[in-house]
Amino acid sequence: MSGKGSGLPFGIDFGGTGIKGAPVDLEKGEFAQDRVRIDTPHPSTPDAVAEVFAELLGKFESSDGPVGVTVPGVVVKGVVHSAANIDKHWIGEDVDQLITAKTGRDVHVVNDADAAGLAEVRYGAAEGHRGLVIVTTLGTGIGSALVYDGVLVPNSELGHLEVDGHDAERRAASSVREREDLSWHDWAKRLTTYYRKLEQLFSPELFVVGGGVSKKADQFLPLIDIETQIVAAKLRNAAGIVGAALYATEARE
Ligand code: BGC
Repeated sequence: MSGKGSGLPFGIDFGGTGIKGAPVDLEKGEFAQDRVRIDTPHPSTPDAVAEVFAELLGKFESSDGPVGVTVPGVVVKGVVHSAANIDKHWIGEDVDQLITAKTGRDVHVVNDADAAGLAEVRYGAAEGHRGLVIVTTLGTGIGSALVYDGVLVPNSELGHLEVDGHDAERRAASSVREREDLSWHDWAKRLTTYYRKLEQLFSPELFVVGGGVSKKADQFLPLIDIETQIVAAKLRNAAGIVGAALYATEARE
C-alpha cells in the first residue's frame, strides 16, 4: 500500500488513562500523521491492552514498519519485570511476543521514561548533548533515563531511589503534588532533595524534566535549588511515541 504511513515506524504510548499512537517521521522527530488516542481498558491486563494496541494500529493504513511500545515498568529483552503503577499481570509477560502475536507487527517494548529520554536526547532539550544526561519524567510515578554520549543505559528506575527513608516517587511525583495539594514551593523542596541525591550519585551534566507537568516548568524549575543545569523537556507529550518509534527502529537494525 502506498501513502504517508507505509513503512514508517509507529510509536505507542501506554499510559494509565490513555493509549496513544502515531506513525513517526524519524528525520524530524515528529508525528507523520495525527495521533489517535483510545482510553486505557480496566483492568489493564496485557491481553486487554494488546487488543487496544491492535485496534489503534487498525486506524492507520497498514505498514511493515516496526512498532515501539512504551510500558511504565522495567523491560528486559521484551519481558516486563516490574509494574509499580500498572496491573501486576504485566510482570513476567513476554510483551514483545504477545503484542507481536496480537498485532501481526514487529513489536519492540521499551520503558516509558527510556523512550522519552531517547527522544529528548535525539530531538529535544538535550539534543546533541554529550556526557551524562538524566531525563526524569514526573507523572503518576517518577521515571528516569540515563543517556551517556547519546547511548541509553536502560531501566535505571531512579524514581525508586530511597530518599530520606521513602521511595522517591511516593514523595515527589507530580501525582503526589496533586494528591497532597502541595504548593509549587513545597513540591520544589521535595524535588530539590531528590535531584540533590541524583547529583550526589551521578554528577550528570544536565537534567531534563518531562511528564505532563513540564508544561508548567516555569512554576517550579526555578525553585529547584541544585548545582546542575536543569531544563524542561521539549517534546512534551510526543516524547513517548517518538522515542518508542526510534527505539523500535534501532532495535530492528
Ligand atoms: C516505574 C518506571 C516508570 C515510571 C514512570 C515507575 O513507577 O517503576 O518503570 O518509568 O514509573 O512511569
